[in-house]
Amino acid sequence: MKTLIKNGTIVNADSTRTADLLIENDKIIAIDENITTYSSHDKVIDASGLYIFPGGIDPHVHMNLPTPAGFSADNFLTGSRAALHGGTTTIIDFVTPKKGQPLSEAKKLRENEAKNSITNCYFHVSPIEWRNTMEDEIINCFKHGTKSFKVYMAYKNSIGIDDDVLLKVMKAVAKAGGIVTVHCELGDEIETLRNNLVNDGKTSPEYHPISRPPQMEALAVQKAIQLASEANCPLYIVHVSAKESINYIQKAQAAGQSVMAETCPQYLLLDDSKYIGNFNQTAPNVMSPPLRKKDDNDALWNAIADGTISTLGTDHCPTTLKQKQFGINDFRLIPNGAGGVEYRLSLLYTFGVLTGKITINKFVELISTNPARIFGLYPAKGIISVGSDADIVVWNPDTENTISAKTQFQNCDINIYEGFLVKGTAEYVFLAGELVIEQ
Ligand code: URP
Ligand code: ZN
Repeated sequence: MKTLIKNGTIVNADSTRTADLLIENDKIIAIDENITTYSSHDKVIDASGLYIFPGGIDPHVHMNLPTPAGFSADNFLTGSRAALHGGTTTIIDFVTPKKGQPLSEAKKLRENEAKNSITNCYFHVSPIEWRNTMEDEIINCFKHGTKSFKVYMAYKNSIGIDDDVLLKVMKAVAKAGGIVTVHCELGDEIETLRNNLVNDGKTSPEYHPISRPPQMEALAVQKAIQLASEANCPLYIVHVSAKESINYIQKAQAAGQSVMAETCPQYLLLDDSKYIGNFNQTAPNVMSPPLRKKDDNDALWNAIADGTISTLGTDHCPTTLKQKQFGINDFRLIPNGAGGVEYRLSLLYTFGVLTGKITINKFVELISTNPARIFGLYPAKGIISVGSDADIVVWNPDTENTISAKTQFQNCDINIYEGFLVKGTAEYVFLAGELVIEQ
């Protein structure tokens, strides 16, 4: 059976056209003004007045993440279901080994955990230490399809690595032809700041952003860029939140270095006023890096519009209020992170496209095309074209919804965008040619 989507406005990163689109099995097989090569048995969807986007690719999610307060609230099934409802058909999560555990073994275990994902699911692999075999382990991952490796400059007491290890990882990944993605915050300095605050009795969530100031991110960005240059390694900086970071990224890009950057909706739309209030109001916003100032929001929007930042991830990692309360007497123990995978498209559409900050083509570039290009999925994904995978979102721009934890698919009792009015819905979602969401 084929599926014909008639009269939709097909939006790619570099073009917009109204046409029919024909799907057979898991591929797009035709795009034309008036497709007639289908039979009465085939499914026909009238997409007049609707947009057609390539399926969203969220390059940064953490499903089923172990935290000191238990696993994060979304497992691969619930999180991927929420993703699909929001128009995301591909998620890229992380393989984080235990100390001493071979990367390949950790990857196998993680892939097993992700078996019930109902979206496409790929992984960045995280070297958390250096050992003699690491270069071979990285090459081996590469041979088995992993081309991106994530390292943490933060979290020094668990998975964070020192600069000499970072350089070794970058050299090994560069040699294999891959890309290193980096969580940029100066881990040692932040540890000291956090501990000093708590020792002074400053234990509530309002001290979380104070313990992780923007300079700590920007200086880490500067250092990561310098090390990547030395290693001649493509660099992707995850969840950029601070305007000071943008200057370093722009300088490196202007000098011709391969440096790419991601931000997340929370850093565009929320600010540090969210840390004023009682524990239950403020703890949901404890994430790393923390929410910044309105100035930073503005700088990030500009960096998206001018191409400095090329992707929008979510860093999806919700935990329940009860889990957040694990740190009620010490903000260092609050599990970091928040949910967002379900709302990435509607938030960017509402606050980016409809406000005129970005075009609809830039929207597609940020939510699908660039993640596909950077992480080796293009042109099978990230574009609506003949021969591409039929991962497709049919977007109704005329709907309105108020975000609420009560109605979300994300498996959590809190939502940092509670009360936000968003426009646009993924009315139909196709995954590998199959209609998986019909609202
Ligand atoms: O606060 C965050 N970002 N939590 C998820 C883990 C990480 O740092 O990526
Ligand atoms: Zn993350």
